[in-house]
Amino acid sequence: MNELETQIARLWEITETQILQRERFYGNLLAFLEGSEFYTGEDVSLCTCTGPGDLYRLLLGKGDKVYGNDGSRAMLKILEKRMKTLQHWEKPTNLRWQDLPKHYPSSHFDFEWTEGNSLIYTNSWAQRHPDLSKARAEIEKSIAGIAAVLKKGGRWYVDLPKETEISGSHRIRLNAENREIDFMYSLLNDWDQKVRTFVMEESYPGYKLRVTQKAFLITGEELRKMCVPIHFSKIEKLEVGDPHYQGYLLTK
Ligand SMILES: C[S@@+](CC[C@H](N)C(=O)[O-])C[C@H]1O[C@@H](n2cnc3c(N)ncnc32)[C@H](O)[C@@H]1O
Repeated sequence: MNELETQIARLWEITETQILQRERFYGNLLAFLEGSEFYTGEDVSLCTCTGPGDLYRLLLGKGDKVYGNDGSRAMLKILEKRMKTLQHWEKPTNLRWQDLPKHYPSSHFDFEWTEGNSLIYTNSWAQRHPDLSKARAEIEKSIAGIAAVLKKGGRWYVDLPKETEISGSHRIRLNAENREIDFMYSLLNDWDQKVRTFVMEESYPGYKLRVTQKAFLITGEELRKMCVPIHFSKIEKLEVGDPHYQGYLLTK
């Protein structure tokens, strides 16, 4: 676990829980998927990138049989801290999506989740100098790994940055670990170069931590071409009022 991975996990937890407040949205997403019978509480599912665990904890709290995984050990450490009274079905795994089939049996899960705009970071998360020229191939390998452990007829929820998302930067004063901090985050989607630049910065008197994350941008149409009919039979665009990302539901 390198220092950058730990720093990014800390800043992402603040962004996810205090700024984007994704927990509220995941309640709506779940209600929609259950209402449409795309997902049922009986499904055995895998959160492929729990992050700090907003969705994973929601599913576990309902008593659903959900397993956890994240490619970052620093993220899993934060997840453990936030588990409080919740119990895992099994200790979350620390695997890259590309390697999921090495651990989980093939055609095992009824449902998988890759939420919070994660897929496009497959070879750049917590990397100081990611090689984005390899990102497309790594996204394809990630999709193959995720699909391999899903049952035929099973479903995969994944989201991408909205193609209409407005770039910009935001400053907020908030409280993290009993300290007042200034928090800034900014995002820039360069669709010509296909690069998303996401910056998070935390500061207080005498201290500043700034990290920049790059990701390879793909459109919904590109996602479709990578998935259907190679690994999945169908892709549906979900209109569930996500203020940040565009959700897709793929059926194997
Ligand atoms: C933007 S964060 C989102 C985390 C979480 N889903 C959420 O919404 O808070 C992206 C996550 O994807 C994970 N990730 C990125 N590439 C990965 C890969 N190849 N395999 C497994 N996890 C990966 C990172 O470790 C990170 O936790």
